[in-house]
Amino acid sequence: MGLFSKSSIKSQLSGFTDYHSHILFGVDDGVKTQEMSLQVLKRYEEIGISEVWCTPHIMEDIPNTTEGLKSRFEELKAAYTGPIKLHLAAEYMMDQLFEERLHNNDLLPLGEDGNRLLVETSYFNPPMDMLDILQQIKSHGYFPVLAHPERYVYMNKSDYRTLKEKEILFQLNLSSLAGGYGPEAQKKAKWLLKKGFYNLAGSDLHSLRNIHFWEAKVRHAEMIRELKIKN
Ligand SMILES: [Fe+2]
Repeated sequence: MGLFSKSSIKSQLSGFTDYHSHILFGVDDGVKTQEMSLQVLKRYEEIGISEVWCTPHIMEDIPNTTEGLKSRFEELKAAYTGPIKLHLAAEYMMDQLFEERLHNNDLLPLGEDGNRLLVETSYFNPPMDMLDILQQIKSHGYFPVLAHPERYVYMNKSDYRTLKEKEILFQLNLSSLAGGYGPEAQKKAKWLLKKGFYNLAGSDLHSLRNIHFWEAKVRHAEMIRELKIKN
């Protein structure tokens, strides 16, 4: 139970685009069944979310294929009859598999311009050649969007500054602001938000239980409202 009524949440989230979610069913550690995907979307409708990007994991441990995800996404779109606009991208772990997919241009980009890639690293260690991989992404014509930078325990303020100097886009997990990943991630999220370092926001929702972000959104509504892909 949050501190806010459903109607106040609705007015704050109205028109919001969720750029990071695991609500495409049965493809990763997120939502398991079509019925659960539809339940999440129903709840999203109630709180006024207007667009959702499904961003399933792609990594060596979860080697989803582009075709497999596209076909599952078509199933979800066929089953969902509500007003929310659904899109498909992916959340890429910057590992060997990703480098192969990048090389083969076998990718699911984020954003309607098709030129952004949502990427992540382990929470504890960066890939050995992280800046090099980010540079490779750019040289293939994509803007890298780093998923939930506030969650990486190995990153400090100077790392964030370096990444922003290299024009890496940052995606905030809304529940980080509400302490959903602990006090350190919360502190970093507040600092990054204050610095204006975030470009996009998302729920990173894995199940209906992850709803902290509703409150977070309301508390930081004014700053978060501006986080949207701009041309
Ligand atoms: Fe995620």
